Amino acid sequence: MTSTFDLVLAGGRIVTPGGITEADIGITGGRITAIGDVSGAAAERLDVGGLHVLPGVIDSQVHFREPGLEHKEDITHGTRSAIKGGVTSIFEMPNTSPLTLDERTLCDKLDRSARGAWCDYAFFMGGNHENAHRLSDLERLPGCAGVKIFMGSSTGTLLAKDDEVIAAVLANGSRRVSVHAEDEDRLVERQPIAVDAEGPEAHPDWRDVESAVRATRRLLALARAANRRVHVLHISTRDEMEILAAHKDLATVEVTLNHLTMTAPECYERLGAFAQMNPPVRDEHHRLGLWEAIRTGVVDVIGSDHAPHTVEEKERPYPSSPSGMPGVQTSLPLLLDHVHRGRLTLERLVDLTAAGPQRIFGIIGKGRIAVGYDADLAVVDLAARREITDEWIASKCGWTPFDGTMVTGWPVATILRGHVVMRDDEVLGTPSGQPVRFFDTSPTRPAT
Ligand code: DOR
Repeated sequence: MTSTFDLVLAGGRIVTPGGITEADIGITGGRITAIGDVSGAAAERLDVGGLHVLPGVIDSQVHFREPGLEHKEDITHGTRSAIKGGVTSIFEMPNTSPLTLDERTLCDKLDRSARGAWCDYAFFMGGNHENAHRLSDLERLPGCAGVKIFMGSSTGTLLAKDDEVIAAVLANGSRRVSVHAEDEDRLVERQPIAVDAEGPEAHPDWRDVESAVRATRRLLALARAANRRVHVLHISTRDEMEILAAHKDLATVEVTLNHLTMTAPECYERLGAFAQMNPPVRDEHHRLGLWEAIRTGVVDVIGSDHAPHTVEEKERPYPSSPSGMPGVQTSLPLLLDHVHRGRLTLERLVDLTAAGPQRIFGIIGKGRIAVGYDADLAVVDLAARREITDEWIASKCGWTPFDGTMVTGWPVATILRGHVVMRDDEVLGTPSGQPVRFFDTSPTRPAT
């Protein structure tokens, strides 16, 4: 007898665009083909009674460091870490070495991923003075998530700090441009604060609220003049949320779990430079401002900004310690814990981690549990009480700033296009990630 379904997830509570409902999910050829009381024959059945089924998380901001910085992370470790945390697609950033600035560097990342990625993937094209005039073509390459600008320096050498360069990037192309908004001139002017500081407690003073606000204001003015949509990454201040709320026609907004979960100065006292990132984790006033922006709908998406560095690098004296923390694996457990504590609903979690990225980046066939969509799913146990530990982390860096944190809510299985790739913390099978597809990219790769 031939099976109707390759896989049936039976008896779970599934989070659909229409609400949370108890239903089976039937999967054929990697896609969802039935939702409801699925009674047909199945090659494989997974009993998910008592568990919730969400669309797999689409993490639209990670740094996997390959090529060039593989001592910190690589595509295989980064994507393993992703699927252990219920993440089924990642968009990776261009501040690798070499920078991702053209067809060749993008296709190199796609080739590496075809060999070793555990989840689906896409890559950002960096935008700077060198390639601004070519971005209309570059942003449409298959496997490209869009263009990324760094207005302020962070890890690596990618930078577009001046209005003329940013305007040139925004003038070339039509997809949404993702932006790290910190004002480079102000950062340089205030650098003595970091140099003279005793430790990373000074990080939010060096890269202060005004550095972020000034860049976000400049960006919005430039985007308005160019009539170009932008996506402002890892917003860290209450002040920017008030500004961004007045520009929802133009700008979408990302926050990270680090900014939502940690508070200065406590995080620097406890973790030192292991809590150092750009833009910095700030005080309670700002953290609560970010939660308020989640509640009111100003925030569109949660990304992890997974940015691993080695323990040895992080132990260097500030400010030689590099900025960034791993996060791709801890986002979903932390978010489920925030749901448990009543800070957001499960439906809003799905909106921020799956439907939001789908809408913002124009992803084909992912981001919701619906017939015809890819069967990318995260099965979660909302009642599981678990401890996040360094040992659980699959990232090459081998640590998490959340080591020792107890959470209620845990991803217990990850399904990628119909294949169970993680179950009970164990990664299964072989790497089978594929490029994420977008409505606005061309279907074929150029010869490189
Ligand atoms: O802290 C950060 N680290 N922020 C960024 O924007 C870049 C990242 C990295 O690549 O290390």
